[in-house]
Amino acid sequence: METVVSGIRPTGNLHLGNYFGAVKGFLQMQNEYNCFFFIADWHSLTTHPHPDNIRNSVKTILAEYLACGIDPEKATIYLQSDVREIPELYLYLNMNAGIGELMRTTSFKDKARQQLHIDRVNTTEGDVEKEIFNEGNKHSVSAGLLTYPTLMAADIIIHKAVKVPVGKDQEQNMEMARRFARRFNATYGVECFPEPASFYYSSKAIKVPGLDGSGKMGKSEGNAIYLIDDEKTIKKKVMKAVTDAGPTEPNSVKPEPIANLFTMMEIVSTKDTFDFFNEKYNNCEIRYGDLKKQLAEDINNFCAPIRERILDIRSNEDYLAKVARMGAEKASESAAKTLREVREIIGFRG
Ligand code: AMP
Ligand code: TRP
Repeated sequence: METVVSGIRPTGNLHLGNYFGAVKGFLQMQNEYNCFFFIADWHSLTTHPHPDNIRNSVKTILAEYLACGIDPEKATIYLQSDVREIPELYLYLNMNAGIGELMRTTSFKDKARQQLHIDRVNTTEGDVEKEIFNEGNKHSVSAGLLTYPTLMAADIIIHKAVKVPVGKDQEQNMEMARRFARRFNATYGVECFPEPASFYYSSKAIKVPGLDGSGKMGKSEGNAIYLIDDEKTIKKKVMKAVTDAGPTEPNSVKPEPIANLFTMMEIVSTKDTFDFFNEKYNNCEIRYGDLKKQLAEDINNFCAPIRERILDIRSNEDYLAKVARMGAEKASESAAKTLREVREIIGFRG
């Protein structure tokens, strides 16, 4: 059976974008693959070195994973920080990773800007680099941020995964993971690690839109509808969605904010509901208030059972601890097996 690895950083509650973009794929894959799904708590230190309450954030994501239907009997669910073989592999990969190639990754440059408090506008990549080396700067960029991709590669290849379900935004990190796996094999003249491929479970990558006019739904975009949101909150968020005065010509092309509402409807409502409102739109009879009311109801119907399970599971500390312990055991066993091999290949005691 092929091995699959994926992780989410514990930086907030799961929202509809996470669910339909990632978690839904995990649910399908756990029936067909040897799955390892983890909570990337070490990775969250690259941007939040003083996490407010990392224990709580981790438990929240764990409860949300389980409430969505990720099954600890089928998939191995664990905390990254419970598998201490990962940092040892990370150390070996770092010995063969170039500072230059790490500095050139886009997510490093973006996040370095944030850590140095450099404005996006009117600054070049050269300015960012200059500030990184500027001894007088009171802000600095951490080596942890620079080596984010080697840690991610270690997460993946520690289980010799071949498929990694992630969003499009992770493509560069995945390219680096493949490169580090290849480089390890070439350096030691072995075929230890397969090259992991990004995997989109649905034939087309899903992008869940925000309802605020344009772009995607996201935590940092401030437009997310969370799985944990209650009925009133969902309604408030949906009713606030951006609309316009309505179409004046039959069958006209939908402007982006309207198209986003329909995309959301396609995701959470039945086909009949979607067709009903689509026809109203095409006949210039649409009443956005009605559409929003229906959409809020359908989102709530989707979230309600998950929300109930989240509240239930989140309060069951013993169950959460048991799942994490079981996952840690299974993941550590798989990781230790790989690491024994790696140590022998390099020439350390196995
Ligand atoms: P993040 O919350 O950005 O760390 O993302 C965790 C996972 O959810 C990644 O695989 C993302 O690609 C996916 N994801 C986040 N937001 C969306 C969205 N609006 N549409 C589709 N997928 C998303
Ligand atoms: N970088 C991923 C993100 O931000 C999280 C992540 C860390 C990950 N390690 C991973 C994803 C390994 C897949 C495999 O979403």
